[in-house]
Amino acid sequence: MSIHFNEQKKIFKLDSKGVSYVFKIYQEGFLAHLYFGAYIPDDNLPDFERRPVYASFSPQPASVEPYTFSPDTCPMEIGCNGGADLRIASIQIRNADGNAVTDMRYVSHKICSGKPALPGLPALYANTPDECETLEITMRDQVTGAECVLLYTVFERHPAITRSVIIRNASNKPMLIERAMSFCMDTNGCDYELISLYGRHMQERDFERRPLAHGTQGIGSRRGSSGHAQNPFIALISKGGNEDSGEAYGFNLVYSCNFKAEIEVDYNNTARVIMGINYDDFGWNLAPGEEFYTPEAVLVYSAEGLGGMSRAFHRLYNENLVRGEWKHKKRPLLVNNWEGTGMEFDDDKLYAIAAWAKETGIEMFVMDDGWFGRRDDDTSSLGDWKVNERKLKGGVGALVKRVKALGLKFGIWYEPEMISPDSDLYRAHPDWAIHVPNRECSVGRQQLVIDMTRKDVRDYLFDIMSEVLANNDIDYLKWDFNRNISEAGSALLPAERQKEFYHRYILGTYELMDRITKAYPHLLVEGCSGGGGRFDPGILYFSPQIWCSDNTDALSRVDIQFGTSLCYPASAQGAHVSASPRASYETKRNVALWGSFGYELDPAKISEEARNEIKAQIADYHKYYDLIHYGDLYRIICPWDDPYNCAWMFVDEDKTQALAIYLIKFKKERRGLFLRLKGLDPAKYYRWEETGEVFSGALLMNAGISLFRMPNEDGYSKTFFFTMV
Ligand code: DGJ
Repeated sequence: MSIHFNEQKKIFKLDSKGVSYVFKIYQEGFLAHLYFGAYIPDDNLPDFERRPVYASFSPQPASVEPYTFSPDTCPMEIGCNGGADLRIASIQIRNADGNAVTDMRYVSHKICSGKPALPGLPALYANTPDECETLEITMRDQVTGAECVLLYTVFERHPAITRSVIIRNASNKPMLIERAMSFCMDTNGCDYELISLYGRHMQERDFERRPLAHGTQGIGSRRGSSGHAQNPFIALISKGGNEDSGEAYGFNLVYSCNFKAEIEVDYNNTARVIMGINYDDFGWNLAPGEEFYTPEAVLVYSAEGLGGMSRAFHRLYNENLVRGEWKHKKRPLLVNNWEGTGMEFDDDKLYAIAAWAKETGIEMFVMDDGWFGRRDDDTSSLGDWKVNERKLKGGVGALVKRVKALGLKFGIWYEPEMISPDSDLYRAHPDWAIHVPNRECSVGRQQLVIDMTRKDVRDYLFDIMSEVLANNDIDYLKWDFNRNISEAGSALLPAERQKEFYHRYILGTYELMDRITKAYPHLLVEGCSGGGGRFDPGILYFSPQIWCSDNTDALSRVDIQFGTSLCYPASAQGAHVSASPRASYETKRNVALWGSFGYELDPAKISEEARNEIKAQIADYHKYYDLIHYGDLYRIICPWDDPYNCAWMFVDEDKTQALAIYLIKFKKERRGLFLRLKGLDPAKYYRWEETGEVFSGALLMNAGISLFRMPNEDGYSKTFFFTMV
C-alpha cells in the first residue's frame, strides 16, 4: 500500500493490495485519469500520449495549442459542468452570476497516513493509522473561488480505494451546489457489462446484467432511501467475465438516501462512471467559508471476476466498515415473534415463545412491532413510543426481566423515523411530519415520515427511546423504516433550502443512529426497511447486520441472498427460518445459515416434529458460525445462471475448512451432475465429514463431488463439510 507522487512526470500512483490507480496533473492543471486495474510497477507507467487527444466537436481551452487537447476527450478525475468537458458532470456549482460553469484545476496536494472521518457521514475507517493512506488534492475554480478537495484512501489489505469530495466556498459570494457526485472515473474502454441489483419488497437485490451502450445509462433512487428498487451498487465486468474470471470493478456508495450511479459511453468508446447523491431535486447552498462533504464511494477491483470482487468487499466491510462491540463478538442466535404473531400478542404469549427458545438453545428473544401506543395494526401509534400496558402488563421492564430470568438476551423493535397520523405525537406536532404547504400528504402503510432534519424531532426520539433503552437491560434494537418519502419538505427550512431536504433528512437519521449507538454501545442494532429496502453500507456502519428481506421462503429468498452477496458479507444479512411452507426445515436452515441466523415463528403454531428439528439444528449454527461470518464466500452455481439449482460455499482463511451447500429449487431431469468446489488448496487433502472419505483439493475443485445419487426433489438441499487432513 502506498501513494506516490512522481514530481517530474506529475503522476500520482496509488497502490492498494494488488491494485494500482494512476492519474496525472496534465496541462492547464486538469487532472487526467491514466489507469485503474491490476498492479503495475512504478517504473513503467501507462502511456498517456496514446489516447485520443482531440475530436473536432470537443472544445478546448483557448490557452492550449490548437488541436492538441480537449478536456472532453481526456479521461478525467473530476467531471466539471459547463466547460469544455461535455460528458456527464460529477460537479456542478451555480455561482452568484447565475451560471453553473464549474472548472476545477489542480492547486496542491497532501498525502497522510490513516483516513480522516467525514463529518456527519458514515464512512470506512482505519483501525490503525498505518493500514491506510490518504491523498487529498485541492482543486480550484479560479473564476468563482469554488474549491474541490478530492479524497482518495488506499487500504493495505484490500484491493480497494475510497473516494469522496469536499466542496468549499473559498469566495465571498454565495454558491449553490447542484451536483456533488462522490467520484468520477473514466475507464479506458467500453467493453464492459453493467451489473446492478434491482428489486422490490420481498424480492430485493435481484441480479441484472446488460452490455454498456453508447450514451448515458444507470440506476438511482428518488425514494428518500437507498430503497428496494435499486441498491447503491454497480459493477462493470469485462465482456465474457463471470464468477471466476474477467476484470470486475465494483462501486458501492456509503449512503442511505437518494443516489445515482451513471455511466456514459462517449464517442471515443470510453466509459465515464459517476456515483453519488442523486442530483435530481438536490441543491445545497454554500455560504462563503462553508464546506460540503459528499458521501464516500468504495471502488474495488478484481482480476478474478465477480467472485473476487465480492470477497474483497466482504473482507473490507467486515474489517473497515462494521464497528462497535458486535464487529467481532458472536451475534446471538435469536427468535423474533413477527412472522409468528404479528401484532397480536401479550406478555404471556411472548414469554411462551421465549421459554421455548431457551429450551431449544436459542439465545435471544426479539419483540417486534406492536408493543407501544395503541398499536394492534398498522393504522396507529408510530411516534408514541410508550408501552401498551394492556399488552405488556407491568411495562417493557417486566417482560425484559421475565425473559432475562430465563437466561436469554432481549431485543426490541422501533421505527423511529415514522409517525402515524393517528398518534398522540401527530396530534401534538402535525408539523413534525414531512409535508409541503397546502398539499395533502400521501400515506404509505398508513403512516407518514417524521422530519429528521429537525433537531427537536431528533431530541424527542432520543429521549423517548432512552426511556426504554436506558432503564431496561436491552441487548438488541431492530431499526425499521417502512415507507418511502413523498411530498418532501420541512416546515423549518426556508424556501431556498428545501432542495437540501433529502440530504438533511439522512444526515438527521445518521445523527440519531450515532447518538443511540454511542449512548448504548452494547446494543446490537439490526437495520431493516420493509425487509431489506435500505440495505447499504451507510446503514451497515451503524448496524452490523440488516434484515435482508421479509421473504422467508427459502426457495426464493436464496436468490435475494445471492444478489446481496455481490457486495455485502454474510455477517451483514439477517436471515431467519420461518414457518413458510414451501421448504423443509433443513432447507430453510441451510439457506438461513448464510447470514446472521435466527428463527421467526411462533412455536405454538408449528408441529412437534418441526420443533424437534429446530432443536437439532442449533449445534450446526455454532459449528459453522466463524466459517460463514468470517470465511470467504464462493458462489458455485448462481440463480442468474441456472434457475433450477444453486450452490455456494464458505472457506476459512487458511483453507482448512469448507462448507458447501447445494439446493435444488425446482427439479429438472438430472444426467449426472458434479459439484465442483472452489477456493480449496489443490495440493492439500480434505476429509468429507459425512463419509470420512478423503479427497484432494484438486479433485474436489476439478472433478467435483457427484450429486448423481442425491434425491432430485424440489426444495431438496444438502450441506457438505470438509476439513483439511
Ligand atoms: C417490516 C419488517 O421487515 C418486518 O420484519 C417487521 O419488523 C415489520 N416491519 C413490523 O412492522
